[in-house]
Amino acid sequence: MTTLAVYSDQDPGQPLGTYTGFEDIRDQLAAVGVEFERWEASQPLSATAGQDEVIAAYRAEIERLNAKYGFVSVDVVSMHPDHPQAEAARGKFLSEHTHDDFETRFFVDGAGAFYVRAGGKVYLTVCTKGDLINLPAHVTHWFDMGPKPNFKAIRFFRIPEGWVGHFTGDTIAERFPKFEPAA
Ligand SMILES: [Fe+2]
Repeated sequence: MTTLAVYSDQDPGQPLGTYTGFEDIRDQLAAVGVEFERWEASQPLSATAGQDEVIAAYRAEIERLNAKYGFVSVDVVSMHPDHPQAEAARGKFLSEHTHDDFETRFFVDGAGAFYVRAGGKVYLTVCTKGDLINLPAHVTHWFDMGPKPNFKAIRFFRIPEGWVGHFTGDTIAERFPKFEPAA
């Protein structure tokens, strides 16, 4: 289930609030400049659907987003627990960082956790199937795919360099709860 937990960035213990309703999550994230949407596939997708099939199923939404923000390409990335690079992939963006461009992902399947730090708070959003999250450039964040990563996501690109992470050096991510998806 998609959830948002909002913490003080000084206190990873008890969240200030937790939300599961779409509108609550959308509004909380919008207040810090992060866009959150829910998309429906235009046709049923199998778990093994390849990139072309996935893109076709969400073509209208993808084209709307591309037109709005100027994304020039999309791809579909998959991660599963047995992937030889799973641990390395998890570690890559597990520390607080920013990018010079949007980080925009649509979860076709599976789950992952985005942690956005803004205004003295941390917004822990567990994204699941059907969720679109759009972080503008320079939003401070980290991403945890969990110890057994399992997701398929569409990524949106304007410039290849947009995906370079600028790490803040802050160890805040180590103090906050890691993503532990339900079994
Ligand atoms: Fe990132």
